[in-house]
Amino acid sequence: MRIRDLATPAVIVDSAVLDANLAAMAAVRPGRSLRPHVKAHKCTALADRQRAHGHDTFTCATPREAIGMAAAGLGADLLLANETVDVQRLRAMARNEDAIITVAVDSDETVDAAAAAGIQQVLIDVNIGLPRCGCRPDAARRLADRARARGLGVRGVMGYEGHLMVVADAAAQRIRVAEAVDTLLRAHADVGGEIVSSGGTGTYHLHPADITEVQAGSYALMDSHYAAALTNSHGTAPFRQACWVLGTVISVSSEWAVVDVGLKALGMDHGNPVIDGGTVWFCSDEHTTFAMPTRPMVGDRIRVIPAHVDPTLAQHDAIWVIDGDEVIDRWPIDLRGW
Ligand SMILES: Cc1ncc(COP(=O)(O)O)c(C=O)c1O
Repeated sequence: MRIRDLATPAVIVDSAVLDANLAAMAAVRPGRSLRPHVKAHKCTALADRQRAHGHDTFTCATPREAIGMAAAGLGADLLLANETVDVQRLRAMARNEDAIITVAVDSDETVDAAAAAGIQQVLIDVNIGLPRCGCRPDAARRLADRARARGLGVRGVMGYEGHLMVVADAAAQRIRVAEAVDTLLRAHADVGGEIVSSGGTGTYHLHPADITEVQAGSYALMDSHYAAALTNSHGTAPFRQACWVLGTVISVSSEWAVVDVGLKALGMDHGNPVIDGGTVWFCSDEHTTFAMPTRPMVGDRIRVIPAHVDPTLAQHDAIWVIDGDEVIDRWPIDLRGW
């Protein structure tokens, strides 16, 4: 099958660019020093590619991702880097005897729910600046003690400096990440355990060796938001765009054209998508209106670059893997849902 045979909108991923991105990250953070975050793609086939590049531990954002990864035989060491008090879902994770599933906790309630559900191991999630999950750093020791008293193994700590993934001034980013890392390491000294887990695509290069693993996800496929940020912080982005939402031009006027990739096929929280060589005017439910110096024709195929890859992929059933113009595989996006 050729790209132009695909029904649109369709997620396409360039196999060679994906492999180059995975290799570039593995060169900096090899093996278990990277715990790839599967929420960026929600696709076990892609996670298996990451495994082929040397990583056999994975980060998940939802119980569904963890259970799906375990079912796909990718459960050597999974981290649910997120809080839940849903004992039923925690039980469903705990039932996976072939998988090791560790759960983040940041409160008495999440510790107690994990223990009640039969989860074996937890990480103490520490707030290192993002106003989201994570306990106060000075509460980490008490929480670890409570978890151990409830029979849970405490493997260490995690923190997520999501507010620092994109910082305009690279020097300021370096300083602020160092402060966040310092907070996490101090909490780790209180908690103990072999794991200190943190970071993402915007900060993977700023973590010292005592951060034992980085949880990056977007680096594999990339999006326009990270492309701009990494170009700013690195000079040249170390990862290239591997993923597009393929669309068909469905209407053309003298000043603009319309492609059938709208906000229902895109994650829009980071703004409008990008069309190389064009200017995106706006998106509506099923349309993106854009201008181009050379006017496209109705029926032309256009590659739309999402501004945020994670929520984009979560809206599609499958990734079409391409090599040049040829479609070489179809990977189900099989970890969707909660
Ligand atoms: C807990 C956690 N870890 C790591 C990441 C990093 O992901 P990315 O590499 O896409 O920035 C995220 C992204 O939101 C996250 O929520």
